[in-house]
Amino acid sequence: MKVTIIGSGNVGSSCATFLAKKNIVREIVLIDIKPKISEGKSLDISQMISIIDSSTKINGYTNDYTKSENSEIIVITCGITRKPGMSRDDLVNTNSKIIRSVVNNSIKLSPNAKFIVVSNPLDVMTYITYMTAKINPYKIIGMAGILDSARYCYFLSKKINVSPVNIQTLLLGGHGDTMVPLYRYTTISGIPIKEFISEEDNQEIIEMTKYAGASIVNYLGTSAWIAPSMSIVKMIESILTNSRNIYCCSSFLKGEYNLKNIFLGVPIILGKNGVEKIIELQLNKNELYLLHKSAYQINNILEKIKL
Ligand code: LAC
Repeated sequence: MKVTIIGSGNVGSSCATFLAKKNIVREIVLIDIKPKISEGKSLDISQMISIIDSSTKINGYTNDYTKSENSEIIVITCGITRKPGMSRDDLVNTNSKIIRSVVNNSIKLSPNAKFIVVSNPLDVMTYITYMTAKINPYKIIGMAGILDSARYCYFLSKKINVSPVNIQTLLLGGHGDTMVPLYRYTTISGIPIKEFISEEDNQEIIEMTKYAGASIVNYLGTSAWIAPSMSIVKMIESILTNSRNIYCCSSFLKGEYNLKNIFLGVPIILGKNGVEKIIELQLNKNELYLLHKSAYQINNILEKIKL
């Protein structure tokens, strides 16, 4: 099994590192338009292989898409990243051109691949991948919900002083300020969250989660990559091992939640075909309102881009 990662920057190279450690793929191909970076990163990761007892091969190439032929999964991490003061939406014009070009280059060589999109603004770039690849939309999935849920679990665990491992949560909507963390669907070892924290106090945690990506940009001058990369690896693992994990991912809606022709974060079963099933929750009026508000914002950005 072969996984191609397009973009060998922080996210792409960390994703290759974590994936190599899992030892579940035969080959990881790193591709970047910037000369030498993929070659250098893949050498560094390859030299770790004997230490971690993995048999994955990692190869890097400068803009040579022929090497991605017959990939099972293509991960798109390329594009410009946020600088302090920028929102994810500020990246839209530059990144939409980049995404169109890399999808055109890779789809011909791997027509059966599943695409995991990571570039921002996430839900918009996932839609552009779909418009460009023109394949079954269930084979195209955006990575955001696992990351945003993990951030929410982290802040919550600190607030109530329990292990984040015990927290289960669902986070719907777009990867941005309009994300919709679901208090009603959050539990700690099966115990409803309301036993630990009031909905009002939880609001503070939600705001921290929304701001989590920007806060890292302010510290580092660029986007986060460790937690995002591990989130991608969880998705790759669920697809390649067909383990059918339930994750919130940016997925194509065909009328679920009263929304259609949009990629938006919703709970799905993730398996060998990509989205195996979209789980439609019985949201209350306010939750549904927030989800639609998030969809409205994504559609607004999409309309501004000439497809
Ligand atoms: C973040 C980037 C990956 O949220 O969007 O850190």
